[in-house]
Amino acid sequence: TAPLRIAIAGLGTVGAGVIRLLATNAGIISARAGRRIEVVAVSARDRSKNRGVDISGFAWEDDMSALARRDDVDVVVELVGGSDGPALALSRAALSAGKALVTANKAMIAHHGLELAELAEANNVALKFEAAVAGGIPVIKGLREGTSANALTKVYGILNGTCNYILSTMERTGADFADVLAEAQARGFAEADPAFDIEGVDAAHKLAILSAIGFGTRVDFAGVRVCGITQVRAADIAQADALGFVIRLIGEADVEDTEDGPRLLQRVRPCLVARGHPLSAVDGPTNAVVAEGNFSGRLLFQGAGAGDGPTASAVAADLIDIARDEVGAPFSIPVAQLAALPPAEPGHRTERTY
Ligand code: NDP
Ligand code: HSE
Repeated sequence: TAPLRIAIAGLGTVGAGVIRLLATNAGIISARAGRRIEVVAVSARDRSKNRGVDISGFAWEDDMSALARRDDVDVVVELVGGSDGPALALSRAALSAGKALVTANKAMIAHHGLELAELAEANNVALKFEAAVAGGIPVIKGLREGTSANALTKVYGILNGTCNYILSTMERTGADFADVLAEAQARGFAEADPAFDIEGVDAAHKLAILSAIGFGTRVDFAGVRVCGITQVRAADIAQADALGFVIRLIGEADVEDTEDGPRLLQRVRPCLVARGHPLSAVDGPTNAVVAEGNFSGRLLFQGAGAGDGPTASAVAADLIDIARDEVGAPFSIPVAQLAALPPAEPGHRTERTY
């Protein structure tokens, strides 16, 4: 069988991780995919940068959109980042050219996911973004396939590895916020602009994607109420500890039945989590997602939410699905069938404890 030929845009933490994984696990991957997955071409900003992986065997494109025009490419893998700009231009160009798209870019999917999904559907190609939510945890697959027979009542969890690393390290060591953030950046967990992490925006991007898949609703990033962790001080953590709690940044979504019809409640905020609750033990750059289905009951997905290896693992899983000719609907059901629910007013529901 002919190999699946891919082009990778973005050779930073995740892009280099994908190249490393595809080389290291080539045998496992071709056995499971039914064919080889071959990197044909790459693009990034600086051709001469040492990335710790050998890219000499791949064609280089200075203009990343050229990847979408190459006849020798079946799938474009977008690992650049940013909700708009070159990532979005490349993604539109790839899908319009009838090429499948794999991306880890939650900002782009939260803002433009519906448009890109419509393009994918119109061109009958795959759009996959497992790595966009919770790094290495197969939570999109879990909700799309594992709980697909359920009405979900609630989805919540720890969706940002950088914030969890900061909060759990401050809690354990008493270290300073800025120092721990710098460590998270050095370890490749943080976004290019870490304000997205600490202000809760990255978690909100992910929550908006999870809601769409979990509840069959249109992605509504603007409807997420967001409060990050920038106001959390060492003294807050110590006080929570004295009361038997830890502080975690929690994203939570559910559908509320109101007199005016169903409403989608989506919010991200620091919460008190009781010691003993499974989310209280989630440490470091780990993420955890709890999904409650009306037949499945409560499910907990937990694992590395950021970093090169786990994120590359999710990207490569999407590539294996595409190599097996799985197209599917990007948001589980066709875009035209996703419900447009107005955002809920949290009103009386102001509780912040788990
Ligand atoms: P990095 O900043 O490490 O890498 C970004 C890459 O994109 C670099 O290779 C850079 O080129 C290239 N790039 C950036 N801007 C441009 C541009 N204008 N033109 C051409 N190339 C450009 O990011 P990450 O690898 O950490 O993240 C990539 C994506 O994956 C983002 O969407 C991020 O949100 C997502 N993600 C990241 C995770 C992580 O743990 N890091 C986890 C899950 C998702 P150069 O190297 O030459 O500067
Ligand atoms: N900056 C993100 C985080 C990367 O810290 O969770 C993974 O999406």
